[in-house]
Amino acid sequence: MGPKLYQPVENLETPALLVDIDAMERNIEEYAAFADENDISLRSHAKTHKNAELAALEDEMTDGGGICCQTLGEVETMARNGIDDIYLSYQVVGKKKLDRFCWLSQKVEKLATTVDSAATIDCLQEAAHEHQTTVEVILEVDVGLHRTGIGPGPQAVALAERIDEAANLEFNGILSYESHVKAEAATESEFDELCWDAMELAQDVVEDIEAAVTSVDEVKIGGTATSRYSGKHPVVTEINPGMYPFNDVGELELRPWEVCKNDCTATVITTVISVPDNDRLVVDGGSKTFSLDKPQMPVPKNRDDIEYVNASEEHGWIDISDSDGSFAVGDRLEFIVPHVCTTINLHDLIIGIRDDRVEELWEVQARGKVR
Ligand SMILES: Cc1ncc(COP(=O)(O)O)c(C=O)c1O
Repeated sequence: MGPKLYQPVENLETPALLVDIDAMERNIEEYAAFADENDISLRSHAKTHKNAELAALEDEMTDGGGICCQTLGEVETMARNGIDDIYLSYQVVGKKKLDRFCWLSQKVEKLATTVDSAATIDCLQEAAHEHQTTVEVILEVDVGLHRTGIGPGPQAVALAERIDEAANLEFNGILSYESHVKAEAATESEFDELCWDAMELAQDVVEDIEAAVTSVDEVKIGGTATSRYSGKHPVVTEINPGMYPFNDVGELELRPWEVCKNDCTATVITTVISVPDNDRLVVDGGSKTFSLDKPQMPVPKNRDDIEYVNASEEHGWIDISDSDGSFAVGDRLEFIVPHVCTTINLHDLIIGIRDDRVEELWEVQARGKVR
């Protein structure tokens, strides 16, 4: 039997993915206050949790800022569960997907998508024309990540013009996702400086497009780590963080001046299944419980004397050589998840905890919705 509302945490079967609701709400409030102070919108990225109830809570706590998705499957999940202002921060490619998108855009009150090439613009125009609808479009501009996005300069202006001239497309602005800064900045001042530089590039693109084509109403940027730096630049109209309600070990290590263990709200509670030696124990959470797609390992939530050092699929190796060694089979240990988006994606359920009891059960509804 699965977890039940009001069940004490101590009775939950393990491994179980928990979220500390009070701390999560504090994190959301903090980013919402930042957005408010800087007169910008906060559109939360649902890719992190893939659950429409959490998306609705974020939307409500951010003054109706709307929701971002990364896959059409996520958009469908959100739309079917009542979210009516969605931005798909991803290119829609292929006839079937274009049909699904155009159909959805007529069902959802506000739905925009992303383009970064003549091919994505032309195919979207063709599909929108076929469906006799008008589609809201954001042009992705590469300000340093070198993933997707057209480079700044005349080529960005040319694509903005192409969108503007397409009869069934409405040019709404640009996306300048600047997460390259996470790999390049190590201090608060470096985050400030590099995010500002990226936003200056975005500003140049906005000025070029406004001089040659049309007004740029929206400048969307940022994830959890960079939003509160880039968002201070006057060009920005909207930040799109996803991990910010939860944080994770990656964020903890990246910005220790800003993120502490108490800000990391997504944890996995595990059980000690074996204490084979004085310096080692094993818990029931391995790589099928914690995503290990990044270099980080899980970090113990409430203690510093033990270390998660290795994983196989259902086993987590814990080094206890610096502890007093007083562990027994059946003890429970809680770990902050290394990478929250991909860890949630391994689970069916997120268990919301308040005052040590289950208060919410959030199904990971868009899990597997990669198309
Ligand atoms: C385009 C875009 N926007 C926003 C985000 C959210 O960033 P984060 O998960 O760092 O909060 C992502 C994450 O990959 C993204 O790709």
